[in-house]
Amino acid sequence: MKIALTALGLTLAAGILFQGLASGADVAKGKATYDQLCAGCHGPTGKGDGPAAASLNPKPRDLSDKTYARSLKDEFLVEITKNGGPAVKKSPLMPAMGKTLKDDQIKDLVAYLRSLAK
Ligand code: HEC
Repeated sequence: MKIALTALGLTLAAGILFQGLASGADVAKGKATYDQLCAGCHGPTGKGDGPAAASLNPKPRDLSDKTYARSLKDEFLVEITKNGGPAVKKSPLMPAMGKTLKDDQIKDLVAYLRSLAK
């Protein structure tokens, strides 16, 4: 019984991993975009400590915090990146990037954001 459950767990984990890979997101590209457009406020590793963060209120949260990062759905990450803070009832200090970034660039970004919390 225990073995069967373990096998089920592994199958599920592999399935989730495969889904992630199959979505075709490019983490390296996501990092390049992040470093250029997001790190100034969100910090080099997503901790919310970029050079511009000192003057922000509220400040960006720590996206490298696993518990917090896991509480955020992909749809939320896409929405706030695309349409800015107000689109998800957050601060307008979080700018909308949908005019600057294509959907697949946002997908790469989200994959990179996910990688920060590992
Ligand atoms: C001008 C500064 C600034 C830039 C540039 C910026 N953000 Fe933000 N971001 C914020 C602030 C401030 C918040 C917090 C909003 C709140 O809590 O109401 C935020 C919030 C977020 C959140 C929600 C989690 C959190 O920290 O509360 C995500 C996800 C996010 N930003 C992603 C991005 C991405 C991706 C980029 C680059 C494409 C980016 N941001 C660029 C200021 C910025």
